[in-house]
Amino acid sequence: MVGKAAGNWRFKDKVLNDLVEVVTLNINSVSYSRAVSSLMTLSHFIREECDLTGTKIGCDRGECGCCSVLVDGKPILACLVLAKFVQDAEITTIEGISVDGQLTPIQESMVENGAIQCGFCTPSMVLNATHLLNTHKAPSKNQIKKCVSGTICRCTGYTKIEKAIEKVVEGRE
Ligand code: FES
Ligand code: FES
Repeated sequence: MVGKAAGNWRFKDKVLNDLVEVVTLNINSVSYSRAVSSLMTLSHFIREECDLTGTKIGCDRGECGCCSVLVDGKPILACLVLAKFVQDAEITTIEGISVDGQLTPIQESMVENGAIQCGFCTPSMVLNATHLLNTHKAPSKNQIKKCVSGTICRCTGYTKIEKAIEKVVEGRE
Protein backbone atom coordinates (compact mmCIF):
# COMPACT_ATOMS: atom_id res chain seq x y z
CA MET A 1 0.00 0.00 0.00
CA VAL A 2 2.82 2.37 0.95
CA GLY A 3 4.60 1.57 -2.31
CA LYS A 4 1.47 2.20 -4.31
CA ALA A 5 0.88 5.58 -2.60
CA ALA A 6 4.49 6.65 -3.25
CA GLY A 7 4.10 5.65 -6.88
CA ASN A 8 1.01 7.80 -7.19
CA TRP A 9 2.88 10.80 -5.81
CA ARG A 10 5.79 10.27 -8.23
CA PHE A 11 3.28 10.17 -11.10
CA LYS A 12 1.60 13.34 -9.84
CA ASP A 13 4.97 15.14 -9.55
CA LYS A 14 5.85 14.13 -13.10
CA VAL A 15 2.55 15.42 -14.44
CA LEU A 16 2.96 18.74 -12.61
CA ASN A 17 6.55 19.12 -13.85
CA ASP A 18 5.43 18.45 -17.38
CA LEU A 19 2.94 21.29 -17.05
CA VAL A 20 5.57 23.93 -16.21
CA GLU A 21 6.29 26.40 -18.97
CA VAL A 22 7.83 29.85 -19.35
CA VAL A 23 5.18 32.52 -19.48
CA THR A 24 6.06 36.12 -20.37
CA LEU A 25 3.62 38.88 -19.54
CA ASN A 26 3.78 42.62 -20.09
CA ILE A 27 2.34 44.17 -16.95
CA ASN A 28 2.39 47.94 -16.39
CA SER A 29 4.97 48.20 -19.21
CA VAL A 30 7.34 45.77 -17.51
CA SER A 31 8.10 42.34 -18.96
CA TYR A 32 7.92 39.43 -16.51
CA SER A 33 9.16 35.98 -17.62
CA ARG A 34 8.49 33.18 -15.18
CA ALA A 35 8.53 29.38 -15.27
CA VAL A 36 5.10 28.55 -13.90
CA SER A 37 2.42 25.93 -14.14
CA SER A 38 0.68 26.21 -17.46
CA LEU A 39 -2.52 26.19 -15.41
CA MET A 40 -1.60 29.29 -13.38
CA THR A 41 -4.24 31.98 -13.60
CA LEU A 42 -3.43 35.58 -14.38
CA SER A 43 -4.43 36.67 -10.86
CA HIS A 44 -1.97 34.28 -9.22
CA PHE A 45 0.77 35.21 -11.71
CA ILE A 46 0.31 38.91 -10.93
CA ARG A 47 0.33 38.48 -7.18
CA GLU A 48 2.74 35.60 -6.61
CA GLU A 49 5.21 35.98 -9.48
CA CYS A 50 5.25 39.79 -9.81
CA ASP A 51 4.48 40.87 -6.23
CA LEU A 52 1.77 43.18 -7.52
CA THR A 53 -0.57 42.63 -4.64
CA GLY A 54 -3.00 45.43 -5.44
CA THR A 55 -4.90 42.85 -7.47
CA LYS A 56 -6.91 40.86 -4.98
CA ILE A 57 -8.22 37.32 -4.99
CA GLY A 58 -11.52 36.86 -3.23
CA CYS A 59 -13.68 34.06 -4.57
CA ASP A 60 -11.17 32.84 -7.21
CA ARG A 61 -14.10 31.79 -9.40
CA GLY A 62 -15.43 34.83 -11.20
CA GLU A 63 -18.02 36.07 -8.74
CA CYS A 64 -16.65 38.87 -6.57
CA GLY A 65 -14.88 41.02 -9.16
CA CYS A 66 -11.97 42.05 -6.92
CA CYS A 67 -9.36 40.53 -9.25
CA SER A 68 -10.20 42.91 -12.12
CA VAL A 69 -7.32 44.12 -14.26
CA LEU A 70 -7.20 45.80 -17.66
CA VAL A 71 -6.12 43.67 -20.59
CA ASP A 72 -5.56 45.86 -23.65
CA GLY A 73 -7.60 48.47 -21.84
CA LYS A 74 -10.61 46.25 -21.12
CA PRO A 75 -11.52 44.98 -17.64
CA ILE A 76 -11.35 41.24 -17.17
CA LEU A 77 -11.52 38.95 -14.17
CA ALA A 78 -7.95 37.75 -13.76
CA CYS A 79 -9.00 34.65 -11.83
CA LEU A 80 -10.78 33.30 -14.90
CA VAL A 81 -7.91 33.67 -17.38
CA LEU A 82 -4.83 31.49 -17.66
CA ALA A 83 -1.69 33.64 -17.62
CA LYS A 84 -0.30 31.93 -20.74
CA PHE A 85 -3.28 33.10 -22.82
CA VAL A 86 -2.55 36.84 -22.42
CA GLN A 87 1.11 36.87 -23.36
CA ASP A 88 0.53 39.22 -26.30
CA ALA A 89 -1.52 41.69 -24.30
CA GLU A 90 -0.78 44.89 -22.41
CA ILE A 91 -1.92 44.28 -18.84
CA THR A 92 -2.57 47.09 -16.40
CA THR A 93 -3.03 46.56 -12.68
CA ILE A 94 -3.87 49.17 -10.07
CA GLU A 95 -0.13 49.76 -9.55
CA GLY A 96 0.17 50.90 -13.17
CA ILE A 97 -2.80 53.19 -13.43
CA SER A 98 -1.18 56.44 -12.31
CA VAL A 99 1.52 58.15 -14.35
CA ASP A 100 4.68 59.47 -12.66
CA GLY A 101 3.03 59.11 -9.28
CA GLN A 102 0.16 61.43 -10.22
CA LEU A 103 -3.33 60.28 -9.35
CA THR A 104 -5.68 59.93 -12.30
CA PRO A 105 -8.91 61.99 -12.37
CA ILE A 106 -10.99 59.10 -11.02
CA GLN A 107 -8.48 58.39 -8.25
CA GLU A 108 -8.52 62.07 -7.25
CA SER A 109 -12.28 62.18 -7.38
CA MET A 110 -12.59 59.08 -5.23
CA VAL A 111 -10.32 60.62 -2.61
CA GLU A 112 -12.22 63.92 -2.69
CA ASN A 113 -15.62 62.23 -2.47
CA GLY A 114 -14.82 59.75 0.29
CA ALA A 115 -15.09 56.83 -2.10
CA ILE A 116 -11.86 55.08 -1.16
CA GLN A 117 -13.02 51.92 0.56
CA CYS A 118 -11.15 48.77 1.47
CA GLY A 119 -8.17 47.34 -0.36
CA PHE A 120 -10.24 44.47 -1.71
CA CYS A 121 -12.80 46.39 -3.72
CA THR A 122 -11.13 49.74 -4.40
CA PRO A 123 -8.52 48.60 -6.97
CA SER A 124 -11.20 46.91 -9.04
CA MET A 125 -13.55 49.89 -8.73
CA VAL A 126 -10.80 52.22 -9.96
CA LEU A 127 -9.91 50.02 -12.93
CA ASN A 128 -13.52 49.50 -14.00
CA ALA A 129 -14.27 53.21 -13.64
CA THR A 130 -11.14 54.02 -15.65
CA HIS A 131 -12.39 51.85 -18.50
CA LEU A 132 -15.86 53.41 -18.35
CA LEU A 133 -14.46 56.95 -18.42
CA ASN A 134 -12.03 56.08 -21.21
CA THR A 135 -14.77 54.68 -23.39
CA HIS A 136 -17.67 57.04 -22.58
CA LYS A 137 -17.42 60.82 -22.54
CA ALA A 138 -20.65 61.15 -20.56
CA PRO A 139 -21.78 57.79 -19.16
CA SER A 140 -25.37 57.61 -17.97
CA LYS A 141 -26.35 56.85 -14.36
CA ASN A 142 -27.26 53.33 -15.44
CA GLN A 143 -23.89 52.82 -17.10
CA ILE A 144 -22.17 54.04 -13.93
CA LYS A 145 -24.27 51.71 -11.77
CA LYS A 146 -23.52 48.80 -14.07
CA CYS A 147 -19.80 49.64 -13.97
CA VAL A 148 -19.54 49.51 -10.18
CA SER A 149 -21.88 46.53 -9.81
CA GLY A 150 -19.22 44.17 -11.15
CA THR A 151 -17.30 44.41 -7.89
CA ILE A 152 -19.11 43.07 -4.87
CA CYS A 153 -19.09 45.16 -1.69
CA ARG A 154 -21.39 44.04 1.07
CA CYS A 155 -19.97 46.30 3.75
CA THR A 156 -19.86 49.90 2.57
CA GLY A 157 -21.70 50.38 -0.67
CA TYR A 158 -21.58 52.04 -4.03
CA THR A 159 -23.09 55.50 -3.61
CA LYS A 160 -19.88 57.45 -3.07
CA ILE A 161 -18.09 55.62 -5.86
CA GLU A 162 -20.90 56.45 -8.26
CA LYS A 163 -20.73 60.07 -7.13
CA ALA A 164 -16.96 60.13 -7.70
CA ILE A 165 -17.44 58.93 -11.28
CA GLU A 166 -20.22 61.47 -11.84
CA LYS A 167 -17.93 64.26 -10.60
CA VAL A 168 -15.29 63.33 -13.16
CA VAL A 169 -17.94 63.47 -15.87
CA GLU A 170 -19.21 66.85 -14.61
CA GLY A 171 -15.67 68.17 -14.73
CA ARG A 172 -15.53 67.35 -18.40
CA GLU A 173 -18.58 69.43 -19.30
S1 FES B 1 -11.35 36.55 -7.34
FE1 FES B 1 -11.85 36.81 -9.41
S2 FES B 1 -13.96 37.27 -9.40
FE2 FES B 1 -13.51 36.83 -7.32
S1 FES C 1 -15.55 45.19 -0.10
FE1 FES C 1 -14.34 46.92 0.13
S2 FES C 1 -15.50 48.27 1.36
FE2 FES C 1 -16.79 46.57 1.00
